[in-house]
Parts: sequence; C-alpha cells; structure tokens
Amino acid sequence: MSAPPEVRRETAVWHEAYQSDVLARRRRSSHARKLRRAGLLSMTRESRILDVCCGEGEMLEFLAREGYSSLVGLDLPAAPGKAEEAKGRRWHYASASATAFPFRAECFDCILCAHSLHHLGGLGNIEALLKEAYHSLKPGGRFIMIDHIDAPLVRLAFAVLFSPLAGLTQFTRMFRQQHLEEKDFLYDYLDHWPGLEALMRKSPFRNFKLEKKLFFFYWTGTK
Ligand SMILES: C[S@@+](CC[C@H](N)C(=O)[O-])C[C@H]1O[C@@H](n2cnc3c(N)ncnc32)[C@H](O)[C@@H]1O
Repeated sequence: MSAPPEVRRETAVWHEAYQSDVLARRRRSSHARKLRRAGLLSMTRESRILDVCCGEGEMLEFLAREGYSSLVGLDLPAAPGKAEEAKGRRWHYASASATAFPFRAECFDCILCAHSLHHLGGLGNIEALLKEAYHSLKPGGRFIMIDHIDAPLVRLAFAVLFSPLAGLTQFTRMFRQQHLEEKDFLYDYLDHWPGLEALMRKSPFRNFKLEKKLFFFYWTGTK
C-alpha cells in the first residue's frame, strides 16, 4: 500500500496575515463575483454544498446570505480560531484534510475548492482531492475549482509583490507577508501548472469547462 500523501500546514505568520482585517475585507469583496463566474449561484438553494479548504468560511457565509442552507466547510485541524468556533455559524465544520474526506459517497450536489490547490503540496495531493470529490459528489453533481493560472502577468505580479514596492500600502504589506509564507509552494505549483491542466483533463469528470482569466482559472466538472 502506498503511504498517505503528506499534508503541509500554514505557519502562524501566514494565519496572522491571512486573518488581518485588511486582507479579509478585500477577499470578501470579491467572493460574489468569483462564485457567480464559477456558476455556483445557479445551483438551487436546496443544494448541499461542500467548501474544501474553506479557511475562515467566508465563502460559506456569503452562500448562507444568498439563501443556501445545507453548507459544509472542510479545513485542516490546525487552521486556528474562527473556523472552529461554532457561534452563530450557518454551516457545519469538518476538520480533515482535502486529501482524505470524512464523508460518505454521493452526498454533495456541489463541491468547491477556491484559492487552495497551491496550498496542497503538489500534484499527488491534488489528484487525491479530485478522487475524493468524485467519490463524495452525487451523480450529476458539480466540482468547482478556482486558483492561479501560470502566466507571465501572474509571475510579474508576484515579482512586484516580493519587491520593496509592496511596502507602500497596508494592504500590499499584509498581502506580501502572506505570500512570503507561500512563496516556495506557490512557485512549485506554478511550475507544475501544465501537469495540473493534464490532471484536470484526465479526471473522470464530464463536461468540464476550464476558463482562464488574468490571474485565476475557473474549472467546473460534472460527475
Ligand atoms: C488561501 S486559503 C483559502 C480559503 C478559502 N477557500 C478562500 O477562498 O478564501 C487556503 C486554505 O487551505 C487550507 N489547507 C491547506 N492544506 C489543506 C489540506 N490538506 N486540507 C484541507 N485544507 C487545507 C488552509 O488551512 C487554508 O485555510
């Protein structure tokens, strides 16, 4: 039997930057646009939706405000603070790895994984996520992934972010702090982009659609 994939975890410095008000505000302001573009808001309000690598659950909170009521978020046990606080939360929290779901087969109408593939630590773990998502989706269910594409503009944006220019505003300072903690695995992810595209194409999902925008791709596949 092969060893289970190794799971990497974010540092305390990463969590501090990620949870800062200035970055959280910016993220929240883009959720509606991204989820609409990914087609998620066309799902009926009764849909059972899983957000894999949900972080603070900001996308789930947005979906709850949109009228969705069967919401589950999954993130690593080490993700501190808010994700594990149940107070006032309108979604269930599952503490597990994206590479080994604690769910039975065919129980979700839609599974979302946003801004997190590059955190998973390599193509082997992304392949494990694709398998888990396929297993846990109902027939006809949708898997949606959003993350960076590899493109010259994306590389340029990160080069600027890692330069002294990023010291100019509070937002770019915090964004740089977060991304300095991601630097190694982020570039490794970008270097493996062709392999990721190949994985998406050979996955068992049908009717898949890959839309590339300036910084991000939107991928949807149907079980
Ligand atoms: C950039 S955040 C994205 C959060 C949220 N999806 C969003 O779009 O705002 C990446 C998240 O991936 C989580 N993560 C990293 N590796 C993971 C794994 N193996 N299993 C589950 N979550 C993981 C981290 O704890 C973190 O919360």
